[in-house]
Amino acid sequence: TAKRTKKVPQLPNIWKREDVKCYLDHQKKQTYQYLLSLPLVSWLITLLQDFLLDILRAGPLPTHISFIMDGNRRYAKSLGMPIIKGHEAGAITLLRMLYNCKKLGIKTTSAYAFSIENFNRPKEEVDTLTRLLAEKLDEIAVKAQDVKDELYGSSFKVVGDRSLISRELNDKITNVERMTAVNDVDEEKTSLLYICFPYTSRNDIYHAMYNTVERVKYHGMSTESISVESLTDAMYFDEFSNKCDLLIRTSGHTRLSDYMLWQSHENGMIEFSTTLWPSYTFLEFYLVLVRWSFFTSLQRFQTSGFSARGQMFNFVREALFSKGHGAPIPLEELPPPPVA
Ligand code: FPP
Ligand code: MG
Repeated sequence: TAKRTKKVPQLPNIWKREDVKCYLDHQKKQTYQYLLSLPLVSWLITLLQDFLLDILRAGPLPTHISFIMDGNRRYAKSLGMPIIKGHEAGAITLLRMLYNCKKLGIKTTSAYAFSIENFNRPKEEVDTLTRLLAEKLDEIAVKAQDVKDELYGSSFKVVGDRSLISRELNDKITNVERMTAVNDVDEEKTSLLYICFPYTSRNDIYHAMYNTVERVKYHGMSTESISVESLTDAMYFDEFSNKCDLLIRTSGHTRLSDYMLWQSHENGMIEFSTTLWPSYTFLEFYLVLVRWSFFTSLQRFQTSGFSARGQMFNFVREALFSKGHGAPIPLEELPPPPVA
């Protein structure tokens, strides 16, 4: 049963200290909400966010960002709302993150929307999530074809074990995928959005193995041609998404839940946040990206042989001992030593 939030006391009935605190918190929240709803304020916030994203674009950025969107039910419970409201709020956060990634020019953004394990949840919740996916598919298809929308030109894919979902939903997915498919000319420029539904990494790996064995058995594929690359290519995550550079999981759980097991690579970063997914903010996401960009730049400098300390040493040496000011004489310019 959902835990109800504490009832906010009305002004003339406030006697206790915690009632005053509860009342003030409520007022503060209402004021923030009111301010954020003002068109001028939201315009300014968007402007500031775009500016911050522009700064970030100057440095290296991940090719593939993925989200484990966890904490929807706890979010709904904390507000005394039905679980569906938590998933709906989660869908809004997903859309916000897709916008941010698109603005940044991230090639692939993916999200874990439904694990195969989630079929064990109450039927009502499974139906809600399935209905939500169908609704979001329609919404995203419209956005991807609307020139005025930020998601315009994005290509949309649902990855996972499609044999586990209904025929109607499968047809809808195929339709949206076809409508938003990338053509060869635009392939390099297009942003790819992947929704994993119903998905688990081990199921993906199992399918890739199974299909490869079938190809060897019935389609003349040689065993020598089986490689890490060929198995990677056989997975649901294909080109531009088969390596995950940044994986973000919300809600405080520090586990992978059978996700991105194959695609998390040697330089991939995994970030855990204690924020519940519907409350995940632009700022938190931005700081994760700044950290990723900083460490990636550092790593690239190191692997390219660049040494910040060496550069600094050279700089100081140049400044202190430049030619004409007692610069050190190279060994070959010294006179020969006296003959003994
Ligand atoms: C995990 O939170 C979240 C899910 C299982 C569903 C994720 C779905 C969305 C964010 C909505 C977008 C959906 C689609 C289909 C596009 P939880 O339910 O495990 O919450 P808890 O950890 O608080 O129990
Ligand atoms: Mg959960």
